Amino acid sequence: AKHYTGLIERYRDRLPVTTNTPIISLGEGNTPLIELKHLPKLVKKDVRILVKFEGLNPTGSFKDRGMTMAVTKAVEAGSKAVICASTGNTSAAAAAYAARAGIAAFVLIPEGKIALGKLSQAMMHGAVTIQIKGNFDDGMRLVKEISDNLSVTIVNSINPFRLQGQKTAAFEIIEELGEAPDYHALPVGNAGNITAHWIGYSEAACIDTASCAFCAGNCQFKNGTLAERRPIMLGYQAAGSAPFLRGEFVDQPETIATAIRIGHPQSWDRAWKVKEESGGWFGECTDTEILKVQKLLAQTEGIFCEPASAASLAGVLKDLELGLIGEGSTIVCTLTGHGLKDPEMAISQSTLPVSVEATHGAIEKIILANIAK
Ligand code: F0G
Repeated sequence: AKHYTGLIERYRDRLPVTTNTPIISLGEGNTPLIELKHLPKLVKKDVRILVKFEGLNPTGSFKDRGMTMAVTKAVEAGSKAVICASTGNTSAAAAAYAARAGIAAFVLIPEGKIALGKLSQAMMHGAVTIQIKGNFDDGMRLVKEISDNLSVTIVNSINPFRLQGQKTAAFEIIEELGEAPDYHALPVGNAGNITAHWIGYSEAACIDTASCAFCAGNCQFKNGTLAERRPIMLGYQAAGSAPFLRGEFVDQPETIATAIRIGHPQSWDRAWKVKEESGGWFGECTDTEILKVQKLLAQTEGIFCEPASAASLAGVLKDLELGLIGEGSTIVCTLTGHGLKDPEMAISQSTLPVSVEATHGAIEKIILANIAK
């Protein structure tokens, strides 16, 4: 078997690279698509739910798919520094890929509203970490202004190479299932990832040839076409940060799912187009619903994702209950980030460890008290 060296090598003929492009990779992509065994039975629905566990990327989120492309193209263009605004995961990925490339990273994060795992990554990889007294949307406005004036490459999802990298998740899913799923659900913040998936599904079906300037019918997929159809796309937001549900920007977004605490999505128009073209919809979940499903997934399936990621599954479970998603469907939920990103949120909703003497008797007592449950 050939050694896996990341998604650019794997999908070279579908990405804007040449043989001279200096690829910056940490082996991202190729994440598992795990079928849930217990949850469908628990909610008494005859459906297949599969989770694409993007938390298993090198820095623990789907951002690595976009960042390998964005940093590769920045380096190819001779850039010596990248910059981003972030709720945490983009900054972690930018910091890591910049370190790998030997260039500088500047990251703007909202003070006090970023999960500790993500903050530790930006710091550990040596990014210049700037906390702003404002939210993500303020940070986004600032990095756009700054990158207009200074020679730093913006690596937020408004950088088109980000979406090119992220579209590969759709290719992987089609390869695993043999076709596109009926539904694909994602948590939505800036709506970059839902847009990227739609580009991927469209290219795989050779529907939007305009966005597929690379295969020209000669790609690795049979006859240029990998899939015959595209899925219905579902975008779920946290209720306190749900501009797509309100139909307008939200100025003071709030949610415990800090990754998607965004009121002014950068891919606003594109996401509405995805909804329309796919026949999908947006939905919202309360913080309580998000945390409940995050824990349920961890305890019934053994899969630990971060709160924002659980929004995709929480939304699907709600819409199954409402009958909006029919029985017999195959549904893919993207779990965008790993649960270890946000240890504080995990600990705060769990039973604290018991503290006992280091004796046989003390341990035995606890086991006997819990084993019957
Ligand atoms: N899930 C996680 C874990 C995220 O970190 C993000 C975005 C999303 C979902 C939403 O993806 O923005 O493409 O709709 N995080 C960005 C960041 C904003 O800075 O890390 P989207």
